[in-house]
Amino acid sequence: MSAQTTARPGAREVSLGSIGDLRARGRAVVEIDGVGIGVFAIGDEVRAYLNICPHMGGPACQGKIMPRTLEVVSDTKQSLGLAFSKDDLHIVCPWHGYEFDMRTGAHPANPRIRLRPVPVRVVAGEVRVSVGGT
Ligand code: FES
Repeated sequence: MSAQTTARPGAREVSLGSIGDLRARGRAVVEIDGVGIGVFAIGDEVRAYLNICPHMGGPACQGKIMPRTLEVVSDTKQSLGLAFSKDDLHIVCPWHGYEFDMRTGAHPANPRIRLRPVPVRVVAGEVRVSVGGT
């Protein structure tokens, strides 16, 4: 596993416990220095985002996690109905239902709308997020 984003100069790392615990729970939503952060174990990967929805500031990281819904289309471009993705997971903001890709933080219809990533990495089995800095 690698860092999701680069920590800012002057940032400090905060331990959130073991990767085993995070994997068992799937997510942790924590508050560090008054900032809400959601941390997620997605397969072998770890992601962290500010718990602030880009729509209206809702607690997006506390939303339901579900597979992406896809429309299945035939060779003749006719809809064959809906199905769940086997690869992509979304988190759904509990306030108004905006969805975000768990791995990228991006809204599926408009990637400019996205959750703000927080640098996170796993060191010797310990999940660490970077906070603060300039
Ligand atoms: S605040 Fe998240 S969808 Fe509106």
